[in-house]
Amino acid sequence: MIEDAAQGFGASYQGRRACSFGQIAATSFFPAKPLGCYGDGGAVFVDDSGMEALVRSLCVHGQGPGGKYDNVRVGINSRLDAIQAAVLLPKLKALEDYELDARQAVAERYRAAFAGKLVTPAVTAGGVSAWAQYALLAENGERRDRILGHLRERGIPCMVYYPKPQHALPVFQGLPRYGETYQNAMDYCARTFSLPMHPYLGEAEQKEVIAAVLEAL
Ligand SMILES: Cc1ncc(COP(=O)(O)O)c(C=O)c1O
Repeated sequence: MIEDAAQGFGASYQGRRACSFGQIAATSFFPAKPLGCYGDGGAVFVDDSGMEALVRSLCVHGQGPGGKYDNVRVGINSRLDAIQAAVLLPKLKALEDYELDARQAVAERYRAAFAGKLVTPAVTAGGVSAWAQYALLAENGERRDRILGHLRERGIPCMVYYPKPQHALPVFQGLPRYGETYQNAMDYCARTFSLPMHPYLGEAEQKEVIAAVLEAL
């Protein structure tokens, strides 16, 4: 099982951390992620020395045991820059020490404000979300677009994650099931929108965001 924890770094289920469920797991340190560096970066998690050797080799152009010019397989250049690692080390500590708690507080304030008015995200019992995004569902696409328009007029950042479901991406056009509707995915993409979510969103700022959404509603 390959676990994609690009948006889940910091989350847990029944005390077990994201990135520890798959035989191999990956996360992203892209700046928008719960643990972001100052450019592109990511990490792979394994719990098996054979897999570790394979991943280490793949990320350095398929390097073999003989060192730099002993390429034994076709790999890629996927080394994390040292400068990004230097950024990530203190940020990892901050995530653990207080940012995850701060994210819970932001999510709880949104939940309390929008409960019964919009569909708020649910967290499975025993789960702790890292709240990479705070995504809501409006009643329909028209209402969603009206909310987005209102927020943008007020200079409040908002995003749609994601405007197109996977099956509707041009890259999959040739696949046999491309033409199927996948109604739930289409419906979700039309109705979803995401609000500012980060551990440094102050209560006063968040109140402005909430007020603008409620006005639009
Ligand atoms: C769920 C998921 N998987 C994978 C990725 C890819 O991460 P990266 O751009 O660091 O390769 C992303 C980033 O948007 C993501 O959200």
